[in-house]
Amino acid sequence: MKNTISVFIVTLFFTLPGMALSGNAVNDKDMGLSKTSVFDTPTPEPFKYSDKFPGTSQVLPRAYPDAPPQIPHNIDSFKPVTAKSNMCIGCHNNPSMRGKTVKGMATPMPESHYTDRRHAPDKVTDQLIGARYVCTQCHVPQSDAKELVDNTFDDKK
Ligand code: HEC
Ligand code: HEC
Repeated sequence: MKNTISVFIVTLFFTLPGMALSGNAVNDKDMGLSKTSVFDTPTPEPFKYSDKFPGTSQVLPRAYPDAPPQIPHNIDSFKPVTAKSNMCIGCHNNPSMRGKTVKGMATPMPESHYTDRRHAPDKVTDQLIGARYVCTQCHVPQSDAKELVDNTFDDKK
């Protein structure tokens, strides 16, 4: 009896993984987003960012309400943002024009960027808050790279 049980267990041990594999084998091309074999090292397709200079691009639609707007213009010559230099501020720091968007002009940074939410959340100042200094932490330019998976997100639904 003891022997029969051990033979049964040993048989299960070898056949179960086999059964699982033969039923739902996953093709090596369907495992990753690149849709090439996982054994390949595919070269990503080249993509580029807008080469338009500020003032010649169009603002992009927001992904959802309160999403940080994407940067529609080229930023190659404004990078990197460092402690000593921030070219973005040169154009976008315009507290007296907050909330007013003029076509072809740099959109002024909103009130939230002049509010120290941690220490004085109700006080809108004319001084850019340090937490907003590195613009590219939240605002990014859009490239023409194809989406890896179809994005059907719609904030109206
Ligand atoms: C020479 C002036 C200038 C500089 C420097 C500049 N911008 Fe802009 N920016 C603009 C203008 C003008 C627009 C409006 C779109 C256009 O006309 O190209 C704009 C649009 C934007 C927008 C879209 C705003 C919206 O309403 O959707 C964002 C975000 C932005 N810029 C972020 C940045 C960041 C971050 C940097 C630094 C890396 C930067 N900009 C540097 C002038 C500038
Ligand atoms: C911590 C994230 C964060 C950082 C850092 C940040 N922003 Fe924003 N920004 C946002 C979000 C979120 C919004 C949209 C919601 C809002 O209005 O506060 C926004 C909105 C904006 C807008 C659109 C204003 C409008 O009226 O439509 C501009 C222009 C902008 N930011 C520029 C900048 C620049 C320039 C910097 C760097 C000096 C910067 N931001 C740093 C998150 C950030």
